[in-house]
Amino acid sequence: MDILNKVKSFREEENSLKWEGTFAEYLAIVKERPEVAQSAHSRVYNMIKSHGLTEKNGHKLYHFFGEEIFGLETSIERLVEEYFHPAAKRLDVRKRILLLMGPVSGGKSTIVTLLKRGFEKYSKTDEGAVYAIKGCPMHEDPLHLIPHELRDEFFEEYGVRIEGSLSPLNTMRLEKEYNGRLEDVMVERIFFSEDKRVGIGTYTPSDPKSQDIADLTGSIDFSTIAEFGAESDPRAYRFDGELNKANRGMMEFQEMLKLDEKFLWLLLSLTQEGNFKAGRFALISADELIVAHTNETEYASFISNKKNEALHSRIIVMPIPYNLKVSQEERIYEKMIRESDMTHIHIAPQALRAAAIFSVLTRLEPPKKQGIDLVKKMRLYDGENVEGFNQIDVEELQKEYPNEGMNGIDPRYVINRISSAIIRKEVPSINALDVLRALKDGLDQHASITQEDREKYMNYISIARREYDEIAKKEIQKAFVYSYEESAITLMDNYLDNVEAYCNKNKIRDTLTGEEMNPDEKLMRSIEEQIGISENAKKAFREEILIRLSAYARKGKRFEYNSHERLREAIQKKLFADLKDVVKITTSSKTPDESQLKKINEVVARLIDEHGYNSISANELLRYVGSLLNR
Ligand SMILES: Nc1ncnc2c1ncn2[C@@H]1O[C@H](COP(=O)(O)OP(=O)(O)O)[C@@H](O)[C@H]1O
Ligand SMILES: [Mg+2]
Repeated sequence: MDILNKVKSFREEENSLKWEGTFAEYLAIVKERPEVAQSAHSRVYNMIKSHGLTEKNGHKLYHFFGEEIFGLETSIERLVEEYFHPAAKRLDVRKRILLLMGPVSGGKSTIVTLLKRGFEKYSKTDEGAVYAIKGCPMHEDPLHLIPHELRDEFFEEYGVRIEGSLSPLNTMRLEKEYNGRLEDVMVERIFFSEDKRVGIGTYTPSDPKSQDIADLTGSIDFSTIAEFGAESDPRAYRFDGELNKANRGMMEFQEMLKLDEKFLWLLLSLTQEGNFKAGRFALISADELIVAHTNETEYASFISNKKNEALHSRIIVMPIPYNLKVSQEERIYEKMIRESDMTHIHIAPQALRAAAIFSVLTRLEPPKKQGIDLVKKMRLYDGENVEGFNQIDVEELQKEYPNEGMNGIDPRYVINRISSAIIRKEVPSINALDVLRALKDGLDQHASITQEDREKYMNYISIARREYDEIAKKEIQKAFVYSYEESAITLMDNYLDNVEAYCNKNKIRDTLTGEEMNPDEKLMRSIEEQIGISENAKKAFREEILIRLSAYARKGKRFEYNSHERLREAIQKKLFADLKDVVKITTSSKTPDESQLKKINEVVARLIDEHGYNSISANELLRYVGSLLNR
């Protein structure tokens, strides 16, 4: 029943936001809060700003996009700074169609959807409130009621500029319903909604022959012509095209360049002049943000068509390339999986990373800079430290190819391959190797890959695999690290006891049996060899350690395992070497003995409890790393 309560309070909240009153009352609102009368472009910009921003390394991160769009900070910044911001200030860019251009599945639709959803929410806030002439299918701006002759005076008094003329329908209603008394015209608060077709329109062109301009501009309502007598009576016209409905908000054109030419001209007049022609009426004013998206190929063929020349200068193209950061790519996949029906599947940690490495490699251009290969470039782009390079190098690399990221593997392909990997496996758990294999197998079926690219991509799969091998080893090490500190101390104490006995030519007492024994030469050497101490140098090294030890003792300080830099290194290396052996032995023996079994179980438990694995993926990882170490 909880949901019903929520529904109820949701409805109450919606109702509490409603407002209606006369135009005279509305003017009082405008006086107090002029922002209610802002243009669609200004509203978008303020909406984006209202979510806040962070400045980092001289770049602005807009939070509005940040939770859904990953790794495209530069493109988003450019979109806001070069389009939304100046458009909000009524600069000329707002008279151009905004065209997001980028490769397939690169996030264009997601950006537009964010804007649409954002608009819906924003119109419910105080700062984003929108008002319209009541009963108008185009939710016309009430300020259009102010006659042109009085608009300068209006500006002086209210500080608001009015653009556009009262529509034919409302001109008629003003006469017939209100006897010309504009102060009595009813105004209401509206809430943008794509579903209810308020302030948000979308259009996807069908094939050119069946594209009907009425979808955009509305059409004659034949059922009412008889009632009103003439086609030119606006009451006999249905202003229910997408452009009508999108008034005050935004209009999305999918695959805009597939639009029939006459549609494009309609859009241009709308953006350029702020009005469009519908039916037999005078021009209809509309205020809406027009966003379209397209891919590079389509855009190139559009550009190359001489007929479209006049259109070029009226479109502002914003490139939306693929993300080029591995860790952000992982977040994209995580998000897509959360939104999919794969949520019940266990995806082993690092599996998405392996896929992300592959995808990003396919998108990167080969660096021209000396001393950098593709993998290093990939790391630098992701903000990792690469020895000998810094942030300035990253910027130089980015400048080498300003259009980087327009090609390569798209995120949707990866998600599709992951889901086919899931189908193939009997258990609901997949790991990095499953994913890489599925990606590789899919390359043959990928329609848009040339033979040349396929070979390149195969190579990137191998690179991703090698990167993953290193990651996998580190995962295992992490799982051992739990008792690492403890083991390091035990090992060092043991070493120090032996060194002391060696230097003083003493025997050493076995703690268990109490038996007197010679110092354990084999143990000492196995540690010293880790840092390249030769047979000849061992005596000096041991004496040096002993001197250090007694210096600590004199000062009453405890000698820790990391009190001597080289000894610490030796101990660590020895531990990892032992670890290697443990992993090798425990994972390769078919019938592990009791202590090996215990170790395996501990590691598996830790992988599950602390590192996000399940029992299948943890065992798979252990086996895999075992096989790597046995190579
Ligand atoms: N940079 C990105 N950040 C977040 N999600 C992304 C990104 N690029 C692609 N996606 C995801 O990939 C899928 C396809 O993106 P979409 O917006 O439909 O691409 P487009 O319209 O450019 O073809 C969506 O699920 C989207 O969320
Ligand atoms: Mg799309």
